[in-house]
Parts: sequence; C-alpha cells; structure tokens
Amino acid sequence: MTERDQSAGRFITFEGGEGSGKSTTTAALVTSLSASGLSVLATREPGGAPGAEHIRSLLVSGAVDRWDPMAEALLHFAARREHLEHTIRPALEDGTWVVCDRFYDSTMAYQGYGQGLGPVAVRNLQFVALGDFAPDLTIVLDIPPQDGLGREINSDASDETRYGRMGAEFHARVRDGFLAIAAAEPDRCVVIDAAQSLDDVQDAIWQTVSDRLGVTSHGG
Ligand code: TMP
Repeated sequence: MTERDQSAGRFITFEGGEGSGKSTTTAALVTSLSASGLSVLATREPGGAPGAEHIRSLLVSGAVDRWDPMAEALLHFAARREHLEHTIRPALEDGTWVVCDRFYDSTMAYQGYGQGLGPVAVRNLQFVALGDFAPDLTIVLDIPPQDGLGREINSDASDETRYGRMGAEFHARVRDGFLAIAAAEPDRCVVIDAAQSLDDVQDAIWQTVSDRLGVTSHGG
C-alpha cells in the first residue's frame, strides 16, 4: 500500500469480471462514505479524465482482435496515467476519498491473464506508468463468468461489448487472474462473493471498508 499523508484521502478500487455488480456497489459505497461526512469522488476506468475517456472509446467497442495485446495494455496504461495525474492524485491530495470502478488489476487480469501478455510484462508497464502508486484497498467482486456475463447481456444496452465477446475461456482466465492477484496481495485485496444477494454484497463491502480503513459512522 502506498503511504499517504494523514490528511490525504484514501483510494479504494473495485475489480471483477463482467457483470460482477461493480457499478451498483461502487455507487452504494460512495453514498455510505459521503453519509459518514467524507468528501468522496466516484470514478472509473478506462476513463475518468477527458483524454482517458477518448481512449476508452478505442477499447470497449469494435472487433475483438482490433488491437495487439501489448498495444492494448499500453492504451490502458496511457488512459490510467491521464486519470491518475488529472483526477485521482489531485483529489487524494485535497483530502477527497476516491472510489474507482477498475484500476491496474484489470490490466493484469484482462491483458496479462486473459489476453496472454503475462504478469511480468504488465508489472513492468505498471511500474513505468505509475511508479509505486497503489490503492489503499481493493475489493474484488468474484462471480462465475457465465453468471456475470448473463447479467451483463441482460443489462447492457450500450455498444461497449468488445470484452464481453471475448469468449468463455478468456473470461475464466480473467477470473483466475483476479483471484491470483488477491491471493498474492492480501494486505491490499479482499475477495467478496458477488453471487450473494445485493444487500449481502453491500454489507460485506461496508464491513471491509470499516475494518480496513477505519470508517466508523454509517449513515449519519
Ligand atoms: P467496464 O465495463 O467495467 O466499464 O470496463 C470496460 C471493459 O474494459 C471491461 O470489459 C474490462 C476492460 N478492461 C480491460 O480489459 N483492462 C483494463 O485495464 C480495464 C481498466 C478495463
């Protein structure tokens, strides 16, 4: 975990495969943290800054094979660098807590494991792009890919379907990747079973954030 100034905000990331419920649970956590009196910013990747949102549109739609995997990972890190410098770091320095839907673990899981780039290449790119910057807490929402993809198809009316079309074996590797990251970094990562009811998932997330980051008051 990056050592942050006492007055700085905390950086919480949500990770997981397609349809794991990140958007809903991210929004719920932001509401709870705000109700605790904290200044909170919700953001997402790829995106979260003007240049990064442009790069997002190059990644999430179109032909599955439109990018070479290394080029694809570089695009994700280019977007992330913009996001870090223009949005995340300034907010943290202002004392704002930042809750981010996906961060660098998604590149490790999707490009490193899913697209076969491998962990060493992704770790090297991460170091070049971000140095030792890291989340204070990462919540990995785990769901069997077939269940998550089913949810995604039912709810996604946008054309952001490129990763959803990458096939069952790809999504199984992505899930394995997230679980391997969480197992390797237990101080930063907590895995939550996203196949539970939404209430149970949200309770587990709040409990985790309270325990790990010492947020005590809830809802008032
Ligand atoms: P979203 O659907 O969660 O908004 O994310 C868009 C897609 O981008 C999602 O299918 C996962 C993929 N992705 C990667 O492949 N690598 C990354 O580094 C990130 C942030 C997302």
